[in-house]
Amino acid sequence: MQFFSSGSLSERSSGDVLIVPCFGSKVSSKSKGQTKNKESALHECSLIASLGDLDREAKFQLKASAFKGSLGETFLFCSSDIKEKRILFVGLGEEADFSFDNARKAFANACVFCHSKHFKKINLLATNLKHFDQAVEAFIFRNWSFEHLRGKKRPSVLWESLHILGGPADAKKIAQRASALMEGVFLARDLITNNADVVTPQHLVHVAKTLGKDAKTKTTVFNKKRIEKEKMGLFLAVAEGSSYEPAFIIIEYRGNPSSKDKTVLVGKGVTYDTGGLSLKPTASMDTMKADMSGSGCVLGVMKAAQNLKIKQNLTVVIATTDNAIGPKSYRPGDVFKAYNGKTVEVLNTDAEGRLTLADAMSYAIKELKPTRLIDVATLTGACVIALGEYVSAVMTRDSALEKGLMQASYTTGEKLWPMPLVEEYRDLLKSDIADLKNIGNRFGSSLQAGLFLEEFTEGCPAWAHLDIAGPAYADKAYGYFPKHATGYGVRLLMEFLESLD
Ligand code: BES
Ligand code: ZN
Ligand code: ZN
Repeated sequence: MQFFSSGSLSERSSGDVLIVPCFGSKVSSKSKGQTKNKESALHECSLIASLGDLDREAKFQLKASAFKGSLGETFLFCSSDIKEKRILFVGLGEEADFSFDNARKAFANACVFCHSKHFKKINLLATNLKHFDQAVEAFIFRNWSFEHLRGKKRPSVLWESLHILGGPADAKKIAQRASALMEGVFLARDLITNNADVVTPQHLVHVAKTLGKDAKTKTTVFNKKRIEKEKMGLFLAVAEGSSYEPAFIIIEYRGNPSSKDKTVLVGKGVTYDTGGLSLKPTASMDTMKADMSGSGCVLGVMKAAQNLKIKQNLTVVIATTDNAIGPKSYRPGDVFKAYNGKTVEVLNTDAEGRLTLADAMSYAIKELKPTRLIDVATLTGACVIALGEYVSAVMTRDSALEKGLMQASYTTGEKLWPMPLVEEYRDLLKSDIADLKNIGNRFGSSLQAGLFLEEFTEGCPAWAHLDIAGPAYADKAYGYFPKHATGYGVRLLMEFLESLD
């Protein structure tokens, strides 16, 4: 994607479309003083006054088409007298309601419209456009599609250039920054969307090594032998059934070498979750290539952190395998010993994420000494039942961490809600033959998963668990999020990292 910026409309180069954002209007009301009607929507469009006579024609067409400027509405006006031949009017909804989230929705929608018409070169009239940053961000956020699986060589980025007219002085910089951030989001989406026989543990290793080429970054990978030597017994148990070699990945980025502060992000990297011998029902398996969304997210954060050269120390840790059925699959009823020495009775091989994360987290705490550790995982179906498909859960005992993550959630629109680590439920994880069981009962099982993970956080100054089982993968597009892999968490965690002192 390329970006250009000019002060006024007359300075624009040729393009496939000129986007003109318009505020909508209240529906005519009979009560005195409120007689606002369609005319006010058209009034806002006098932004294009410099188009001369066309302005009148455009207004006429808008009126005739009953365009109201409501949020997400689009209207394409064509004329041979316009440089681009087309103006796309984009409804912003009522001015009084125009929030930064509405700016994102309007422009994500405009982006989708541009895709449908195969527009490549976009001119955007941004004079006095409120929430410009979010508008441009969403316009880039949606400029992604995944076509590899069709066997076509279509580019994953659809429109190619954006020329901003009359925006803020630093418009180009804002767009370039957003684009650098979205590279992280797109990396996550590509990894999550692609086949599980492509995105294997070794593929994640390849991505991690590529990220490790950055000057401030170092990638370390443990192979199976080394994982055995480290005695990561829970992670190894999950990996037993797999025909792929597991990998333990550590990517260290030093954005602030003089500081001891370090954020460690641990991502669930189960490249496919069949459930193992506790096999999932057929329909529940359909989206399980997305069970590495946590690792996709943290790799995306690493990419974005490098692109934006953030001044934070950041380490990403991923214990990756798939959860498959094979002659050597781990079995319900067997007991395995974790990296931290705790023994776990596995009563359901489908509760595998917490096993891989447990070893990754206790290793990270002991060896990497984080100031704060955040794990990101598509951990429980119960979390989707509790909060729906658009909201993730955050579980933590650290109020500063919770506050920071919630603030980042509000700013980015990547929805997050606190769920409690209820001490009284810990009994549910007691085993007769080991220190812990890997499942409790059906009631509040997301919280039990959180409590299970907490057993592996000893010595960690601050820990938060993000269960992203809902928002990582979407059945249909919503808000400004695309269908399928959303890239959820990359913007949220980048915002959080950048908010740290
Ligand atoms: N990967 C799943 C969780 C999941 C479910 C993610 C639906 C996204 C959508 C996880 O490994 C799992 O299977 N969890 C079990 C735990 C249970 C056996 C205690 C679940 O949620 O049913
Ligand atoms: Zn599972
Ligand atoms: Zn899983």
